Amino acid sequence: RRVVVLISGSGSNLQALIDAQTHDELGGEIVAVISNEPDAYGLVRAREAGIDAVVLPHREYENRDAYDGALIKVIERHEPDLIVLAGFMRIFTPRFVQRFLGRMLNIHPSLLPAYQGLHTHERALADGVPEHGCSVHFVTEELDGGPVVVQAAVNVAEGETEETLKEKVHTREHLIYPIAVKWFLEGRLRFTAEGATIDGHPL
Ligand code: GRF
Repeated sequence: RRVVVLISGSGSNLQALIDAQTHDELGGEIVAVISNEPDAYGLVRAREAGIDAVVLPHREYENRDAYDGALIKVIERHEPDLIVLAGFMRIFTPRFVQRFLGRMLNIHPSLLPAYQGLHTHERALADGVPEHGCSVHFVTEELDGGPVVVQAAVNVAEGETEETLKEKVHTREHLIYPIAVKWFLEGRLRFTAEGATIDGHPL
């Protein structure tokens, strides 16, 4: 089974997936990593792991639709079973989402449906919530709104800063993302009209 990973930055989640693959725990192979940012460190991680690293800079396209069209082509060239968003900082056109509906996962740094969008750690801290975390979800047209697959929660400690909270959540992201990818590649995790299911049971 074939996986394409989309990134824009550091790629620490990509690294967690690469490490899982190295240990034969991913259930498939990352066949390409695509970044819209030429300087994304994740590209280095991909190359070091011997994975095809592709740069597709959005600045070279006239509009969102033209970019997404080009991205569809690059992705499909690699014939993936699953598309994994790992810090890909762009909003997709409906056409793009429809094309890969049910076979595209994202990880978001909050306990969805809380804190969709950006600056999640900062907002959680400002609200003084006792718990924060991360969620893997299927991508639908609603931004950060698709069916949730798996979440990990962390306690917000006394004196927690944005940096410490972000780091805590990141360690959980690296734990849950490879698991969700494996479930999907093994055919256990599915996207249905009613939502996500695991082994036929609603999540
Ligand atoms: C993560 O916080 C993830 O939840 C969000 O983007 C960030 C990517 O981090 N979608 P990294 O590039 O994987 O280190």
